[in-house]
Amino acid sequence: MVMSDMTYPACNADNNRMEPGLGGGQPRQEFCSVLDNGFMAESIAKIRLLAPYVAENCHPGQFVHLRLPNLEAHILRRPFSVYAADARSGEIQLLYQTVGAGTEHLTTVGRGAQIDVIGPIGRGWQPQPSAKRVLLVGGGLGVAPLYMLAASFRTDVEVHLVMGAQSADRLICREPFSTYITEPCLHITTDDGSAGQHCFTTKVVKDLLDEGSFDYIATCGPEAMQKAVAALAAEHKTVCEVSLERRMACGIGACLSCMVETINGPQRACVDGPVFSALEVIW
Ligand SMILES: Cc1cc2nc3c(=O)[nH]c(=O)nc-3n(C[C@H](O)[C@H](O)[C@H](O)COP(=O)(O)OP(=O)(O)OC[C@H]3O[C@@H](n4cnc5c(N)ncnc54)[C@H](O)[C@@H]3O)c2cc1C
Ligand code: FES
Repeated sequence: MVMSDMTYPACNADNNRMEPGLGGGQPRQEFCSVLDNGFMAESIAKIRLLAPYVAENCHPGQFVHLRLPNLEAHILRRPFSVYAADARSGEIQLLYQTVGAGTEHLTTVGRGAQIDVIGPIGRGWQPQPSAKRVLLVGGGLGVAPLYMLAASFRTDVEVHLVMGAQSADRLICREPFSTYITEPCLHITTDDGSAGQHCFTTKVVKDLLDEGSFDYIATCGPEAMQKAVAALAAEHKTVCEVSLERRMACGIGACLSCMVETINGPQRACVDGPVFSALEVIW
């Protein structure tokens, strides 16, 4: 089934608003100017877009669906988590890894180009409002959807982050996260030991959970890592949410190409997720 983008009301991209984002808006199609696009590390890039509607309405953990300029006729939209959003400036930021034709092409899109964006899409993170001590676990670019979540907690919530990467040069978000999460709560791991602890994130998650209790865990990254974090959370009877990536076509719940097996039956990652309760997922 082919779904037209006209399912979404168009949104004028030059409507900068000053009030902070509220989250929870319905997805819309928005034509967005590229403010900046460039590599941060080998095969990892950041793109900044003027996307006032998404910036104002995005909830942490949601994503956008991009139609790549000059590839419109040949390639489906590509989903990317919203890494940062500023409702005052109307800017959103995405982090992306070059893995194939679409993301390779995205690196060639320069400042001033227009990108057709649908967003914000999906179910984001839903920590309990009463949570006082939370643990975020990001592997590789899986840290991207955790940044807005880190920024969303009240200052009296103790937020820990375990951030894992293959090597020091791929820890691209360390600095921005340090605005919200400072040293004793910021736990770095690398696969090669070039920064932080020489281990996988799951070793640190286990140590932290053994040392003291958390009210909520959010994790994103390689599925094997998320599965292991979910198992540790279940062992420690801690509420845990995971963010699952699936290949997507329509992004609006119609084509059923993004199914996730859950105890409540098959669910669509694009609209029922990408964030799911870890207990719900059949791994
Ligand atoms: C909800 C969601 C959020 C995402 N957020 C980000 C993000 O913030 N940053 C980022 O770099 N990537 C993210 N992705 C993955 C990203 O969408 C894919 O890497 C991208 O679509 C690949 O396009 P391509 O044309 O370059 O690669 P293709 O040529 O289509 O595929 C190349 C390789 O990437 C794999 N791949 C393609 N699409 C997906 C997908 N949707 N999920 C998992 N693997 C895929 C393929 O299996 C293949 O191995 C997200 C995916 C989802 C579903
Ligand atoms: S991508 Fe079509 S239903 Fe999820």
